[in-house]
Amino acid sequence: MKAVVYDRYGPPDVLRLEEVERPAPKDDEVLVEVHATTVNRLDVHTREANRSSGLAVMFLSRLVSGLRKPRQRILGSEYAGEVVATGSAVSEFAVGEHVFGNSGLRFGAHAEFMCVRESARITHMPAGASFEEAAPISDGALNALWCLRVGGIHRGQTILIYGASGAIGTAGVQLATYFGADVTAVCSTKNLELVRSLGAGRVIDYTREDFTKDGQTYDVIFDAVGKHSFKRSRDSLNKDGQYLATDGFRNLALALWTSRFGDKKVKFQLPPRYAKKDLVFLRELIEAGKFRAVIDRTYPLEEVVEAARYVETEQKTGNVVITIGER
Ligand SMILES: NC(=O)c1ccc[n+]([C@@H]2O[C@H](COP(=O)([O-])OP(=O)(O)OC[C@H]3O[C@@H](n4cnc5c(N)ncnc54)[C@H](OP(=O)(O)O)[C@@H]3O)[C@@H](O)[C@H]2O)c1
Repeated sequence: MKAVVYDRYGPPDVLRLEEVERPAPKDDEVLVEVHATTVNRLDVHTREANRSSGLAVMFLSRLVSGLRKPRQRILGSEYAGEVVATGSAVSEFAVGEHVFGNSGLRFGAHAEFMCVRESARITHMPAGASFEEAAPISDGALNALWCLRVGGIHRGQTILIYGASGAIGTAGVQLATYFGADVTAVCSTKNLELVRSLGAGRVIDYTREDFTKDGQTYDVIFDAVGKHSFKRSRDSLNKDGQYLATDGFRNLALALWTSRFGDKKVKFQLPPRYAKKDLVFLRELIEAGKFRAVIDRTYPLEEVVEAARYVETEQKTGNVVITIGER
């Protein structure tokens, strides 16, 4: 089968298309023919071994992915495709069914076929969704769901989402709206209409306005893109307000510190825990018309290097999809 592989950490050019052996499902696995996948920030961070985040993070990243070279040669964590074989113990899925899922750090989706345990984060595709629409459902949404749950987001709260146009941000706006919060979204001019259409009651263009200076305060500030800080946000939080982080070791330390001191808290828990039932929840939201994965660009698998370069610009809006095979 065709797969995009890499054998050393580095820039997008380390990726190359190669003919590799097609995997065979174990008793508790299904073999999925992957029709669509994504390039997301997890792929980028893992491929470059988090080089841009400093030596300590790079070392930790390599501890997980392989010290000298990547243990898993095929990246890609999100996928949508068709079940083409099942192990003898599989009961939830049958050949021919359309599924989507998120393999997390096991990766393997930048390939024509992948094996997935039936108990893993895999479920049936939303009714009416195409493979291209289903593949990008989970990355930003699982992350946003995790952060919002860590923050205990609930009806009636006011939340400001900074970086509302990224994979996590576009999901965060929709999920916070679904949970009944009053959402203010912050993004650049070109994405204002999009985030408004996702449910934000108010939008702020950060190229023209600084939300920290307009006197408004919020119960929750969610930094969905890792570009703001607790320090700069603190005065915009209500008493007992929370700053939800997606990134940065300093936020781990701040989470510990503010859990004991002060009336405003940083909430950041690692590693995030994503469950199969969360995928089912997202599918149900999509089928109810309350969620959609925002797609920026779509590339064929053969152009994965260009796709990775684009994701590295940190300027994608929502998600970047990769299609596999002729459809
Ligand atoms: N997705 C993952 O798998 C993953 C995994 C681990 C960690 N993370 C972390 O989670 C954070 C968000 O990831 P993501 O995948 O959602 O990001 P993303 O999709 O790459 O975010 C891109 C968006 O961020 C906005 N942006 C860029 N620079 C900005 C700035 N200086 N201020 C405000 N907005 C800015 C841009 O929109 P505008 O033009 O509208 O500003 C762009 O649309 C990152 O810190 C990432 O490292 C993500």
